[in-house]
Amino acid sequence: MKKLLTMNELTISEIEGILHEAECFANGTSWIPKQLTTVANLFFEPSTRTKSSFEMAERKLGLEVIPFDAGTSSVLKGETLYDTVKTLEAIGVNALIIRHEQDNYFDELNEKIGIPIINAGDGCGNHPTQSLLDLLTIKQEFKSFKGLKIAIIGDVRHSRVAKSNAEALTRLGANVVFSGPPEWFDRTNSLGRYEDIDHAVATSDVVMLLRIQHERHIDKYDQANGDYLEKFGLTKQREKNMKPDAIIMHPAPINRGVEIDSDLVECSRSRIFKQMENGVFIRMAVLKNVLEQTEGGNIHENSNQK
Ligand code: CP
Repeated sequence: MKKLLTMNELTISEIEGILHEAECFANGTSWIPKQLTTVANLFFEPSTRTKSSFEMAERKLGLEVIPFDAGTSSVLKGETLYDTVKTLEAIGVNALIIRHEQDNYFDELNEKIGIPIINAGDGCGNHPTQSLLDLLTIKQEFKSFKGLKIAIIGDVRHSRVAKSNAEALTRLGANVVFSGPPEWFDRTNSLGRYEDIDHAVATSDVVMLLRIQHERHIDKYDQANGDYLEKFGLTKQREKNMKPDAIIMHPAPINRGVEIDSDLVECSRSRIFKQMENGVFIRMAVLKNVLEQTEGGNIHENSNQK
């Protein structure tokens, strides 16, 4: 794996390999590069989980991390993404992790940049490492994806998590359905049908809530009237109707009391903080896979089980 930009570029076998390696890292396996390896995290959009867990993963793998702050970089003087990336490549960075507000920002970099790029989120497009950590969380719970019903609920139209997960889960044999405000669901979406929220919650194995992506809306949804939770969110009443072994997921950040009742965020069905924990191990596995493909990247493995 020389880069990771979308879930669709990964074969099923590559997905399974990454999930397996992430489990190994979670169980204490260590791996570090044989030679000094330097990475930079270029986040042009806000992030808490993805940026921090990439940094944690990088430290656990013994990588050098060049600090990059978009708010104090020469991007503010008009430098393009392409020239920023070329600059970091020129000064010796070995791999880049990039989050950017533009859908498919990587298309303009793909052929012209010689170092690997790992996509940490592109606009409404893709969020492959979030999808992989979600897959790991589901696999830990249900062992297999085949035949599972996964309800992705909320701002589907603007969610890169919904897109990456629906693509991957469908290929892995799960049955994906969508719910939420109908105007935020594209009826031509071939990855899953739309279901009424009460039916979707009551019949699914995984109930995955999404935040309203206000920053990507042209027309702002008025939640001041406070009816979003009742109409489209996971209320305590809906949670009572969930299947006995069904779990709650959310990529976060969470808007408590909007898409999910605050009391459900840490309830026994919730795997939301488990998702975040898994994010570190998934990002270690992705970095290892990518760096192993770069020159001299093959390194030192040590299976220290916890
Ligand atoms: N889930 C996720 O991408 O969170 P952040 O925006 O905080 O990175």
